[in-house]
Amino acid sequence: MCGIIGYTGNNEAAERIIYGLKKLEYRGYDSAGIAVADSGKIKRVRSAGKLENLVKKLKGGSIPGTTGIGHTRWATHGKPSDENAHPHTDCTGMITLIHNGIIENYYEIREELKKKGHKFSSETDTEVFAHLIEEKISMGIEKAVADALKRIRGMYAMVILYSKEPGKIIAARQGSPLVLGIGKGENYIASDVPSFLKFTDKALFLEDGDVAVVTKEKVSVTNGGKNVQRAVRDIKWTAKQAEKAGYPHFMLKEINEEPQSFEDTILGRFDELKGRIEFESVDDKKLAKIERIKIVACGTSYHAAYAAKYLVEKYSGVSVEVEVASEIRYANPVVDKKTLLVAVSQSGETIDTIEAFKNLKTKAGYSLAIVNVVGSTLSRMLDGVIYTHAGPEIGVAATKTFISQLAVLYLFALHMGKIKGVLKAKDVRRGIRNLRKVPGLIRLILKDREKIAKIAGKYKKNRDFLYYGRNINYPMALEGALKLKEISYIHAEGYAAGEMKHGPIALVDDKVPNVFIAPQGKVYEKLISNIQEIKARSGTIIAVTNKSNKEMKKFAEDVIYIPDIDEDYYPLLAAIPMQLLAYYIGVKKGIDVDKPRNLAKSVTVE
Ligand code: G6P
Repeated sequence: MCGIIGYTGNNEAAERIIYGLKKLEYRGYDSAGIAVADSGKIKRVRSAGKLENLVKKLKGGSIPGTTGIGHTRWATHGKPSDENAHPHTDCTGMITLIHNGIIENYYEIREELKKKGHKFSSETDTEVFAHLIEEKISMGIEKAVADALKRIRGMYAMVILYSKEPGKIIAARQGSPLVLGIGKGENYIASDVPSFLKFTDKALFLEDGDVAVVTKEKVSVTNGGKNVQRAVRDIKWTAKQAEKAGYPHFMLKEINEEPQSFEDTILGRFDELKGRIEFESVDDKKLAKIERIKIVACGTSYHAAYAAKYLVEKYSGVSVEVEVASEIRYANPVVDKKTLLVAVSQSGETIDTIEAFKNLKTKAGYSLAIVNVVGSTLSRMLDGVIYTHAGPEIGVAATKTFISQLAVLYLFALHMGKIKGVLKAKDVRRGIRNLRKVPGLIRLILKDREKIAKIAGKYKKNRDFLYYGRNINYPMALEGALKLKEISYIHAEGYAAGEMKHGPIALVDDKVPNVFIAPQGKVYEKLISNIQEIKARSGTIIAVTNKSNKEMKKFAEDVIYIPDIDEDYYPLLAAIPMQLLAYYIGVKKGIDVDKPRNLAKSVTVE
């Protein structure tokens, strides 16, 4: 949450910072601010609301200088206002900083500093850090920062400017992401790579406890006071991938990229003739010893993990539990050396997932991260990593990364099945054949998307929705409901259709549409019974089913067809109309679907 960007070089810092903030807005958009150091002074401009407000405020008034920091905020302490917007300063205005995360003991520090005469001008936890540095500034900025860091508890990504050393940015990381962009005669420090990718594709990811001193020529990193070397990685994503490319929203662009993301994720990972799956950094010998699997994730990634439970258990006979990261973190899960732990995360930076693994990792026999962002914390933390190769995703609601997570998890289920001797090469071959068909079939669904837009128009005024699925399509019902909530602000719940008579049936009336994911297969007739029960009570049905199902139009007010495929593979297709329905309802309601209120793409505070 929150986006940070710092720049030092020979160009106007403000330009680079605003460019970077535009790329980071998906991380938070309550307020924005910038500070630039020049001629011994630091100039600061801040504004509540989206970044465009800050840009308007900057117009006309120049903010010269070649070193600066900028921020787009997702509020934790203090409402979104000009005063609470970052950067924050000390009493003298010489120390100016930005912070992502939470300083847990800020209140006690603030009271202590107030007694010493410090004046505070915001309600944020961040401001105390500037004042803590001020207290010790006679030691020099670097020592004062190190000293202040010892006083705080919590999580942070911090960037600091000091007016007496205008070409320098000091950065510190504990728990919240920070990555350096290493350029020629210029350097960047940011929350995420797309903010500087246009200018450099060389990235250095900071680790917890790192403090970096960044000038235009040099970057040095220490941890616990000792110099450390961190690898500089080449980023394969291109800046163009992070543009809208003519689409009205990133979300629609990213949904349209799903066939490509899916292909990029599976290609190179199977040998169809031999019926074999191969993952680059996974130890198959370790997998062979596994008797239980625990998958840990949040949000949409949790729904991908949930679908995997059905598949992995079916294909390999290995028991799978799926856990919400924030819950398992404070529970007492049973994890032993026969357990494989899997993290599923687009960003690789979700705090609850990271923290859950800190506690569990050493107890497990083996651990794997399924992650989209190369070099992110989770990708470096576990024994093995499988990247989802979806490319950068900017829309706050996960779409193409969800499909790519499913792609990896399907491959993984087939792989596990083979390793455990449950699946034969011919079974894996059949699975691969199905997966290879998926991108083409998604393209067909996308071609027909206007039909879904029409259905969206019909239901945009409804205030509640129920989503139902059974078996492997149940997680898709959960995901459909989540997508709708996130970007259309309509209350929606996903249910296992078998649970309908245990509660949600009481809600049936003509005002609550019921979305059924009901392709033909082993549980189809059960779903039809559920649909009939709703019809008998005058409820409305929107059904997603396979193209060759001719009877559904008898039961449903609206039918969305997806192409036919082997039944285990329907979630890979059913997910697309779920996303499109939510997208079009959101757009028709006039909502900024790329930046829905209160949400952030990467949840880096608890
Ligand atoms: C936030 C995002 C969701 C995402 C979830 C988990 O809630 O808005 O789109 O699914 O975090 O994020 P992760 O990066 O761990 O997949």
